[in-house]
Amino acid sequence: MRNIAVFASGFGSNFHALVEAAKKKAFDASIVLLVSDKPHCQAVNRAKKEKIEVFAFDPLNYDAKSDYEKEILEILKIKRVDLIVLAGYMRIIGKTLLEAFPKRIINIHPSLLPKFKGKDAIGQALKAGVEFTGVTVHYVNERLDSGKIIIQASIKIDDLDNKEKIESRIHLVEHRLYKQAIKIVLEDMNEESVD
Ligand code: GRF
Repeated sequence: MRNIAVFASGFGSNFHALVEAAKKKAFDASIVLLVSDKPHCQAVNRAKKEKIEVFAFDPLNYDAKSDYEKEILEILKIKRVDLIVLAGYMRIIGKTLLEAFPKRIINIHPSLLPKFKGKDAIGQALKAGVEFTGVTVHYVNERLDSGKIIIQASIKIDDLDNKEKIESRIHLVEHRLYKQAIKIVLEDMNEESVD
């Protein structure tokens, strides 16, 4: 059984969906840690309620990204984390974590990558007037929203859709897709360790 750390900065609906999925054994891993750069966010509250260990920090208390990432790394080692799952974590992952977890960090993004990278992907899609947008789960590398794609799902944008409506449909898709992606990644990891 593998150990997962989820990183989140906000509401944490994906984190919540993953906790529920783990309980139902949708994938063969436990969520052992929540890491957050926003000590008072809803995701942290959800983790506490679920009795999942939390490491929350304020980046302003550190001189550099590498300083807080080194601290995170220590905790990841103690908790024997195999896979890092970003779920609305609003910081770019630095060299310290990328080098320690090669092909072991994944992210969910609310667009059909490579379209609409970065912030406000749903707003970007609406502005561009596309007929379809969606959700992508991908590996994290040193470039923003650019790592190898694991799985995608699309949704149609209707004429009467506004941002809120699309956002809530995207969230439903995310909650379904992320657990599937984790299952795929864990299976790949198992195959690699047999090779
Ligand atoms: C999701 O839409 C995810 O795609 C993006 O951030 C949002 C997080 O939502 N990276 P939540 O905090 O999981 O509700």
